[in-house]
Amino acid sequence: MTMPGRFITLEGVDGAGKSTHLGFVADWLRQRGKEVIVTREPGGTPLGETLRELLLHREMAADTELLLMFAARQEHLAALIQPALARGAWVVSDRFTDASYAYQCGGRGIAAGRIAALESWVQHGFAPDLTLLFDVPPEVAEARRSAARTADRFEREADSFFNRVRNAYLDRARAEPGRIHVLDARQPIEAVQAEIGQLLQGLA
Ligand code: TMP
Repeated sequence: MTMPGRFITLEGVDGAGKSTHLGFVADWLRQRGKEVIVTREPGGTPLGETLRELLLHREMAADTELLLMFAARQEHLAALIQPALARGAWVVSDRFTDASYAYQCGGRGIAAGRIAALESWVQHGFAPDLTLLFDVPPEVAEARRSAARTADRFEREADSFFNRVRNAYLDRARAEPGRIHVLDARQPIEAVQAEIGQLLQGLA
């Protein structure tokens, strides 16, 4: 299905600094006359935000976590992302399916095939047009996480968990270099944003 709008996702381990750049991406596009919808996963719809509360704060089995991520994603696609793209808006999402591969497969150890099965069920081949992967070494992400407010269920995970998440993200970027662009988020903000601007230019 070809849609007139574009779908951009931001990814990275907790503490990589992606949220800082979300507003920049939205402003850059709005300054060029695009209608922009900023959203996030898990979340983005009333039901998705309720699922987010459970996902971030309630203990559950890894498979339950994966299924709830995709339940929230199904609702997000049907109620917000696809209607917005269909009317020509640009959608910028703080995380999407790459996070399920990174966290539930890389972090929790669920087989990639299970995630791929849910992805094809829910997305029918739909994928972001551009994914910005904010990458920082584990110790930098850890320092930023410790400085942040109260940790949620993911942020309380051990360093080894985040190392696996980071490596899973980098593996995906190697497998899909045309879509996923790795940004060295240790650089000064202006340098990262100059790179982001160039990538958006290629899409606009
Ligand atoms: P956030 O803190 O970046 O808003 O993301 C919430 C948490 O949810 C984050 O720790 C990563 C996690 N997450 C997954 O584990 N799998 C997913 O598919 C998504 C979208 C997020």
